[in-house]
Amino acid sequence: MIDIDIARARADTPGCAHVVHFNNAGAALPPAQVTDAVIGHLRREATIGGYEAAAEAVPQIEHAYDAVAALIGCARDEVALIENATRAWDMAFYAQTFTAGDRILIGRCEYASNIIALLQMARRTGVQIDIVPDDEHGQISIPALRRMIDARVRLIALTHVPSDNGLVNPAAAVGVIAREYGVPYLLDACQSIGQMPVDVDAIGCDMLSATGRKFLRAPRGTGFLYVRRNLIKRLEPPLLDQHAAVLTAIDAFTIRPDARRFENWESFVAGRIGLGVAADYALAWGLDAIGSRIAHLSGMLRDQLQTIPGVFVHDTGTVRSGIVTFTKKNEETTALNRRLRARGINTSVAAPAPARIVPNGSPPPAMVRASVHYYNTEAEVAQLCAAVEYD
Ligand SMILES: Cc1ncc(COP(=O)(O)O)c(C=O)c1O
Repeated sequence: MIDIDIARARADTPGCAHVVHFNNAGAALPPAQVTDAVIGHLRREATIGGYEAAAEAVPQIEHAYDAVAALIGCARDEVALIENATRAWDMAFYAQTFTAGDRILIGRCEYASNIIALLQMARRTGVQIDIVPDDEHGQISIPALRRMIDARVRLIALTHVPSDNGLVNPAAAVGVIAREYGVPYLLDACQSIGQMPVDVDAIGCDMLSATGRKFLRAPRGTGFLYVRRNLIKRLEPPLLDQHAAVLTAIDAFTIRPDARRFENWESFVAGRIGLGVAADYALAWGLDAIGSRIAHLSGMLRDQLQTIPGVFVHDTGTVRSGIVTFTKKNEETTALNRRLRARGINTSVAAPAPARIVPNGSPPPAMVRASVHYYNTEAEVAQLCAAVEYD
């Protein structure tokens, strides 16, 4: 395991003094550096005016693009700052064109909002949505994906780390197939960004959506979209404003050439600054170090939970994330989650999206989701397990 200075990480995180936070897949505790940057900008807005504060903060706002680009290994002109992962995903997805008979391949762990958009697109255009089955490890089956590809496939959409299961999908193996067949590949990296290294070239995705508030530890209401440069000009955003496009005459406009064509003009400026600080902060620890600490703590949590009578850990996949899902016999999930909260331990309830329902089978149960971050401690893991065991 690569070492992280836990005492310093916790000293940087005021929330650690108040809660045992295992809801990092919901929203992580931000470091003080992020909160200070956001509040500092809000104070400048209140003191000198919103537009004036933004003009003064151009270097910090622009730096957010560099920081995000450094985080995922792309160029700054391939980054759009968007208010959340869902809207970022939507902007890329609804920019695709589909006609009846086309196909989209998705994994079984697709996020529910993405599925709604896919179904809406299917209703509008007749595009066919095909779910790639899982392999024997409960992650997207690479051989099945390969078998399902044909000339009608227009898009592969995959969720890297699902919100309701501890698996990490083999995103790079999917990228190899997408490249081989020249199919655009949209990766939902909402839960992986900030908890492990994510490099768009190593994965081979063409578009990637992410949120700020989860493992990246940025403010709520922030997120981003990556679009590979050769694709940007071929994708017309579903919505345009005078930031995304320029009105050149009363009857003509041109769309900007960079990924900011997917943005809109008005935004949470302080949040964007905070997003940049959060990306810098994660990079300063190193995503390898963060990933290895999270793997250590979440592995420990799974091991300990499995020794508790009546507790069942549901995570699948050969590579596991910091998200740990479990149920307890004889204690209803929401009641257990509430009981943990009453003890100052934050977890959440995961209800798997319908794509995970086996055809003609029963839906998986609602589960407690305990999501660890690098600033959690071994003692907190033990505290959580003790609270789960003894009510
Ligand atoms: C896998 C995944 N994708 C997308 C989202 C949506 O993110 P946001 O709430 O920022 O739109 C979530 C949120 O939980 C998620 O877990």
